[in-house]
Amino acid sequence: MGDVREILRSERLVLREIAVSDLPVLERIFADPLCMRYYPSVKDAMGTRDFFDRLAFRSYQKNGFGLWAVIDRESGDLLGDCGITLQETSEGLEPEIGYHLWLDHWGKGYATEAATACRDHAFSVMGLSRIVSIVHPDNLPSQKVAARVHQRRETFSKPNAAGEMMERYLYISERKPGA
Ligand SMILES: CC(C)(COP(=O)(O)OP(=O)(O)OC[C@H]1O[C@@H](n2cnc3c(N)ncnc32)[C@H](O)[C@@H]1OP(=O)(O)O)[C@@H](O)C(=O)NCCC(=O)NCCS
Repeated sequence: MGDVREILRSERLVLREIAVSDLPVLERIFADPLCMRYYPSVKDAMGTRDFFDRLAFRSYQKNGFGLWAVIDRESGDLLGDCGITLQETSEGLEPEIGYHLWLDHWGKGYATEAATACRDHAFSVMGLSRIVSIVHPDNLPSQKVAARVHQRRETFSKPNAAGEMMERYLYISERKPGA
């Protein structure tokens, strides 16, 4: 992984840009019914590649950020993805922290650690003043992560692929003035 850009380090994790060679592990997450329980459907390999093409590779080029690979510093294993992408919210298009881990790595605090590091990176390195996470009202594990990372929660509605309005929780962090 000599030529992929490292983004940040936390106590147990490294977040770096995703490489094409990471895609088989990420495809496994997005093809798994339990991992995708709160998504409209699982994705096949092509669907996952399209997703990371848009939210990682093209986003790196266009925005300088995107979904990043979450790596266990000790083992070097790829645990999943976590990063910052532009998503439509009640405020328009804004930077959002998202996370998806392979299920063997749940229950160890990795998503909270990675998302917290992304929030701090957004404020201190990217210079953002607000960052959010959008969560499905049924996705309790993700709500617990977002509640630990962010300061407050609102509710908003956004259209799904069929144009129906779906309620979502919007978890919000704002940089304190002077911080
Ligand atoms: C959302 C998702 C990442 C949450 O995973 P998770 O393992 O519950 O979250 P974390 O990695 O932060 O782990 C937190 C849990 O680890 C426990 N834990 C164990 N060891 C820990 C440690 N050393 N440090 C911190 N927490 C630890 C915590 O008590 C916590 O449990 P709790 O949530 O029951 O209180 C995971 O369910 C997932 O990948 N789902 C599929 C994709 C998805 O839905 N993404 C979100 C879209 S909005």
